[in-house]
Formats: sequence, structure tokens, C-alpha cells
Amino acid sequence: MNRNTRSGPERGGVWRVSTLLWAARHVAHLEGDFVECACYRGSSARTVADLIDISKRRHYLYDLFDHDPAMPHHQMAEHSSTLYDEVRARFPEPNVIITQGKVPESLVIAAPDRIAFMHLDLNNAEAEIGVLEVLWDRIVPGGILILDDFGWLPYYRQFNAETDWFTARGHVILEMPTGQGLVIKHA
Ligand SMILES: C[S@@+](CC[C@H](N)C(=O)[O-])C[C@H]1O[C@@H](n2cnc3c(N)ncnc32)[C@H](O)[C@@H]1O
Repeated sequence: MNRNTRSGPERGGVWRVSTLLWAARHVAHLEGDFVECACYRGSSARTVADLIDISKRRHYLYDLFDHDPAMPHHQMAEHSSTLYDEVRARFPEPNVIITQGKVPESLVIAAPDRIAFMHLDLNNAEAEIGVLEVLWDRIVPGGILILDDFGWLPYYRQFNAETDWFTARGHVILEMPTGQGLVIKHA
């Protein structure tokens, strides 16, 4: 975390990253790629990539990387016209595929057929449901989905929309004290 983060608030996410590392290790025996929507600076994705062997699968990272006032996402400190290139430079591994653009629309540019682990951190209920509509069916049985911010009050729209979405599909979200939601895909 110290190597891959630049600020106190980023380091404050250590328990959330711990959940991601557990999930990534837990699915290591499964066939399927890793997905993160959205990666922002790439810090949590970089920490996962540093601690587990990522050479055996592809990692798909998505983000806008820049702020668009027309979009519902809030501006973050390091959004800029150069952030995509900076994040690209953090991942020299050829199996890390980084797509700039708005999900779910940008999933047509690049997306895996089989997913073992997916992390949704869009802070946007509509976009997260949009990604689930496209990618949930591609998560393999036993694969894990982590919903960042699921349990925090400011993101109650995500909580409500995702609870309804998974209830309709016979899956139960574990709400964690980190604010994350955790779903294990079953057949
Ligand atoms: C909280 S940050 C992600 C932090 C990152 N997961 C980490 O752990 O460092 C949220 C990101 O979602 C991105 N975002 C929001 N809506 C989006 C959308 N529809 N498509 C792509 N990226 C989006 C923003 O650009 C922002 O960088």
C-alpha cells in the first residue's frame, strides 16, 4: 500500500484492498480474467498485481480518467488528460488491458468472455447496474464480485439498485464493515 499510494485517504483504504487481495487469491484456481470498473489511478489494481501472480490471466481495467462535467461521476483530484497514460505506465505487463471511456458502453471495445474476479467502484448506480447487465453472466461459478461503497449511506442508490438486482437473480450480497458488498457467483 505504501508503495502504490500517494495520499492518506488512499492508504486509508487498506482494509478494502485487503478484501480485494483475499478475493483475488480465493479465485486463483479458477479460469477467468480479472476486471476492475473503475481503476482511477490504478492503485488497488497495482497492489493486487504486485501480490498475486497475474501472468496467468488478463486484467481488464476501465475508467474515464478525466472529468466530464456532463457525466454524473464526481471529479477526483487526479483526473486529467494525462491520467490514462500515467496509469498505462504503471502496468507494463502486456496482459493488463486498459480501456478509457464510459462503461458500460466502452465494454464493446474490450471485455473478457470469462471472469473470475470483478471489482465495481464506479460510485454510480446506473453505470454499475449497466456493467452487471453485460458482465455478470460471464463470471464463472465460484467467481467473486466486490461492490465498493455498497454499504455507505451516500451511495444508498447503489445499495438499493444492487440489492434488488441480485435478489431477482437469487444471489445474496454480504455487506461488510468496509462498506464493500461481496457476492459469490453460484450456478
Ligand atoms: C472511486 S474511483 C475508483 C478508485 C479505484 N478503484 C481505486 O481503488 O483506486 C471512481 C472512478 O470511477 C470512474 N467512473 C465513474 N463513472 C464511470 C463510467 N461510467 N465509466 C468509466 N469510469 C467511470 C471515475 O472516473 C473515477 O475515476
